[in-house]
Amino acid sequence: MEIAEIKKEFCRIYGGSEENLRVFRSPGRVNMIGEHTDYNGGYVFPAALKMATTVVARKRQDNVIRLKATDLDVLIEAETDKLDSYRDLEWGNYQLGIAYVMQQKGYDIVGCDLLYDDTVPHGGGLSSSAAIEVSTALMFATFNNEKKGIKEPVNMIEMALIGQKTENEYCGVNCGIMDQFASAMGKENHAIMLDCNTLKYKLVPLELGDCKIVIANTKKKHSLGASKYNERRSECDAAVEALKKVMPEITCLADVSPEKFEEYKNVIENETVRKRAEHVVYEIDRVVKSVEALEKNDICSFGKLMDASHNSLRDLYEVTGDELDAMVDEARKIKGTVGSRMTGAGFGGCTVNIVKENAVDEFIEKVGKGYTEKTGLVPEFYVSETGDGGCEIK
Ligand code: GLA
Repeated sequence: MEIAEIKKEFCRIYGGSEENLRVFRSPGRVNMIGEHTDYNGGYVFPAALKMATTVVARKRQDNVIRLKATDLDVLIEAETDKLDSYRDLEWGNYQLGIAYVMQQKGYDIVGCDLLYDDTVPHGGGLSSSAAIEVSTALMFATFNNEKKGIKEPVNMIEMALIGQKTENEYCGVNCGIMDQFASAMGKENHAIMLDCNTLKYKLVPLELGDCKIVIANTKKKHSLGASKYNERRSECDAAVEALKKVMPEITCLADVSPEKFEEYKNVIENETVRKRAEHVVYEIDRVVKSVEALEKNDICSFGKLMDASHNSLRDLYEVTGDELDAMVDEARKIKGTVGSRMTGAGFGGCTVNIVKENAVDEFIEKVGKGYTEKTGLVPEFYVSETGDGGCEIK
């Protein structure tokens, strides 16, 4: 919805005039390469999208928070002194989780009426939850600063960390920092090369010449809460423990170079754990090589690295599944496809593809048809533009 429309809807629901309404927005993300590396202290390379969460907000004089979304009927009412108790809400737990985590950190959580409008597809692996978290955190931080007379701008990296903590501690998903960081810190026409160990980052122009980024949604919902994500994390921890026997100085898989891994991989006795570690070690290396390729305008090499990333996520990390594999297989049949891989956690969700501009129509038609024939599902395609990170819209 356009902002003017959301504001109208806000007044229809909550009454009053549009005069004191504030608008905050934070985007979803697509990860170009570097999958399941963030919680291993490695590099990721996500870009913020134009698809985003917009929240229209009005402060209240009491301690009540009311929440509604433009596409849901339910209206949630919460109190700022009971924020610990909304963990099991089907909708609204991200927002109230953010408020809870911020309150624990000493933010003054101001009562408010809120209306959310999302254009990031839900459960599609494009971080719709991070978009909600970061826009909400920015809103509460802005209101906190106004109440306390703090003049400095909100620190967006802190908003990302609050988002991650909320997922980890309030929503029970042990995710890394990538999604929230991209949502908070993205920049139009750029991807972020982020070192997840130090949070040092570099904005890299996504200049793709005569190519476009096409995101393909398998429409197979992924559920991050699903135990598989946390299972992969434990397998990586097990790999670190085993490798420490010969490399006591390491703290995470990002500390292991491909050369060292080849030298010592046999100390990892469990074959599954060894495969998981192999993916992570080489995937981190692929991020470095991808950025080098892009900086030389070598889109072709970047595409090959994306392909290798998918194959590794399929064969070694085992997080793709039939739908994502079918989508990638169909994409690779198109001559104008430069690279194709799953993006996000996996087990459903989306693929990201670099496609020659003059092949985009053919891509959407043929990949869509082939995918439906194989899976029975009707996919969606977004010829995607990158956008800016979270901000207040004035
Ligand atoms: C999800 C998590 C991220 C990251 C990716 C996999 O999106 O939220 O932290 O681990 O999966 O790369």
